[in-house]
Amino acid sequence: MKTWTKEELYKPLEETSVEEFIQLKTKVDACTWRQTFHIQPITGLLNDPNGFSYFNGEYNLFYQWFPLGPVHGLKHWYHVKSKDLVHWENVGLGLKPEYDYENYGVYSGSAIEKDGQLHILYTGNHRDKNWQRKPMQALAKMNKQGIITKLEKPVIDSVPQGYTEHFRDPKVWEENGTYYAVIGAQRENLSGTVVLYSSKDMTDWTFEGEIQTDYTDFGYMWECPDYFELDKKGLLLFSPQGIPAQNGRYQNIYQMGYLLGSPLDMKEKRLEHGEFQELDFGFDFYAAQTTLDEKGRRILIGWMGLPEIDYPTDVSGWAHCLSLPRELRVIDGKLYQTPVEELNDLRRNQEDFAGLVNGIQEITSAKTFEVEGEFTNIQAQSVGLKLRAGNGEELVFKYDVENQQLILDRSKAGVEFAQEFGDTRSISYKKEKLKFRIFVDTSSVEIFINDGEYTMSSRFFSTNTQDKIQVFSENGSANVVLRKWDIHK
Ligand code: FRU
Repeated sequence: MKTWTKEELYKPLEETSVEEFIQLKTKVDACTWRQTFHIQPITGLLNDPNGFSYFNGEYNLFYQWFPLGPVHGLKHWYHVKSKDLVHWENVGLGLKPEYDYENYGVYSGSAIEKDGQLHILYTGNHRDKNWQRKPMQALAKMNKQGIITKLEKPVIDSVPQGYTEHFRDPKVWEENGTYYAVIGAQRENLSGTVVLYSSKDMTDWTFEGEIQTDYTDFGYMWECPDYFELDKKGLLLFSPQGIPAQNGRYQNIYQMGYLLGSPLDMKEKRLEHGEFQELDFGFDFYAAQTTLDEKGRRILIGWMGLPEIDYPTDVSGWAHCLSLPRELRVIDGKLYQTPVEELNDLRRNQEDFAGLVNGIQEITSAKTFEVEGEFTNIQAQSVGLKLRAGNGEELVFKYDVENQQLILDRSKAGVEFAQEFGDTRSISYKKEKLKFRIFVDTSSVEIFINDGEYTMSSRFFSTNTQDKIQVFSENGSANVVLRKWDIHK
């Protein structure tokens, strides 16, 4: 792999020749792992979803973008939009580093409509001559024509006392005429936390203090926080770094999860909450962001990737994609995530199967598809599905009844990567039935279990010639119903 010099990582996009860019784009487009129904970078590296909002009759979404290769270089925002959360249009470059306050990257942030314009609050990654990072929070406004203008000065130009240079990713919301923003932070004692700001006009911000939780020593940095209320509960989402793996939990390099509890007490800035829960149990999920849409739905999109991991697409000049949009619900005090209903528009060529499985059985074949179904009357050691199977390759999702676990196994799914973090992910599970809905794109899988009780999202990189869908049971039988649709966009 190419080693990138600092000059290359931070070269302004304007200094890249059109020929150079076209050459990269040609290489990217020729990659056999390009997705068909997921948001992916046109070139280079995509990371966090940013500025997710419903504005001017459309969903607007941006992603952290380094245009020139699969590395974390000078970050921009790339803009996409959609009327239905399914068909996304590539609008083009959204934000680029222009001012001194963002000289080393336009980092993550969020957006909200105010006075007919989309107000975008984000982190300017400023570094001084000594390479000292001095994060600033900046404001940009997008009008209904899509023209974006930035304020010349940052709206928060320093880090409050008690916190380090790791201070970023404002997520804004409005409540009774006041704007609030949570920001991910690191305390001077090197522990992660979230702080709260307030403003009457999105320009003058007041530091309100830290959000008090029971997790006072939980990793060294909390990135990309999000706070919202749903079904009378308060939810604080964040991506903590530095949580050691334990008993099958926290297996990824960094985590993404939430605290669910009573609505945030704005005066005390205290959140009464239950245990930290991982939002997704797959291999690749991080830095998710939500928005409230015009239908009143709370919708979440995550980054299907992780920092500091090499991916097989790197050699083709691009990396990562975003997850499908999910609707969040709280039912009986528990968070559920389901694919937004608009995704049903992608369904083509329905095929049904119902019967008894005893051993392994081939159902059909498909490369990019949705499959939903259920295992009942399970009298076996394990039951499951093999996707993109054939020629020794398979992506396996199974219910290991004996060991009471749901397992996603990508050990034989194709090109191996990130192996130091293991090749299976699991959820402890003990139920009579297993209901699932699975979306497979060229190089990703998203599994929604029991109407969204759990999710597992992962990339995998098969040789792309294998496309069998098989069901299996080990040492016994089970009833299974399956329904499959092809997805071609
Ligand atoms: C999370 C993150 C954010 C930061 C952005 C930079 O993946 O590190 O904290 O704003 O990515 O690209």
